[in-house]
Amino acid sequence: MTATDPDAPGTAAPPAELLPTLAGHYYTDPAVFAREQELILESHWFCAVRSADLARPGAFRTATVGRESVLVCRTRSGAVRAFLNVCRHRGAQLCTAESGEVRRSLQCPYHAWTYDLDGRLVAAPNMADMPGVDKRERGLIGVHVREWLGYVWVCLADEPPSFDETVRGAVARRLGDEDVVERYGVEGLALGRRISYDVAANWKLVVENFMECYHCGTIHPELTEVLPEFAEGYAAQYHVGHGAEFGSDVDGFTVDGTAGFGRLGGVGEEQDRRYYAVTVRPQVFLNLVPDHVIVHRMFPLAPDRTLIECDWLYSPEVVESGTDLSHSVELFDRVNRQDFEACERCQPAMSSRAYRTGGVLVPVEHHIAEFHAWVADLLGDPPE
Ligand code: FES
Ligand code: FE
Repeated sequence: MTATDPDAPGTAAPPAELLPTLAGHYYTDPAVFAREQELILESHWFCAVRSADLARPGAFRTATVGRESVLVCRTRSGAVRAFLNVCRHRGAQLCTAESGEVRRSLQCPYHAWTYDLDGRLVAAPNMADMPGVDKRERGLIGVHVREWLGYVWVCLADEPPSFDETVRGAVARRLGDEDVVERYGVEGLALGRRISYDVAANWKLVVENFMECYHCGTIHPELTEVLPEFAEGYAAQYHVGHGAEFGSDVDGFTVDGTAGFGRLGGVGEEQDRRYYAVTVRPQVFLNLVPDHVIVHRMFPLAPDRTLIECDWLYSPEVVESGTDLSHSVELFDRVNRQDFEACERCQPAMSSRAYRTGGVLVPVEHHIAEFHAWVADLLGDPPE
């Protein structure tokens, strides 16, 4: 893929020296992954669920966030709440389905303790014989929730980091202005297509791949046709606010460069015929083009397995018209498959003796070194 780090230092010239990568064990060691689950995935804002997937009161979805299953649901009042998906009686997983809809309560399938959609324990068999059980103390354990860009973001930390600084700020720093992403009206877009990819690679390989463009000329023939500057491989040129320009003979961000759909409402002249990519640590990639938005959510499941849910979002009129989206979706679906195949090619080599001390980043990839330092710092290790 293509992108840049949101904190890349603007137009500053990259250092000339080669930078080391993380050592191979960072991508394979279960102990490292366990620390990442706790200190990164459970400690930062995590984009879990698309809000529109919880269309009606009683709708729920479950998502793996670090070591936990999180249950996200819409309440009777229309709010979104999220809980650890664990019954407070004997610890059964409350909802085993990925998604579903209940009328007004969530009932544990083991002994039928029943919780309302705000997480309160409202009933349990033989409750009258359990005077020691205080219903108010046995509700589901809630987690922090924010909604932005049409997605539900959760944070399992007791004290979440600032959403404005770490999520909205990451997008604003990349795009140069807090208002740019708002012009795409992402909240109001409709889901045109969703594709899930089960990738046999460590989540950091996927992030690093997204942040570099050194591979674009080698593995992305369709993308470099549409965005010729990507063929040069210099991710560092994607400084703050820079969008890659469509080729002069390209009509749209489609697999064959033919026209896509009309420009989204608020997209201005300066964003027209341009592609912007944003990384929101730890697990979200946004891709903005004039007629649609692509959102990747990564769910790291194991040191060598990452589930990626990718949504293609269009104006509601385009989706409701039933028009064929395939030439639009196919471009980034191919890019995804090319990228994930590359990540899967690297994963087995991470445990090779040849990669014991890691590899190198080319000089324009100083922003990937900064991602490595961020990870190592959070894990309490010196950057290697
Ligand atoms: Fe849920 Fe017993 S474990 S009701
Ligand atoms: Fe790529």
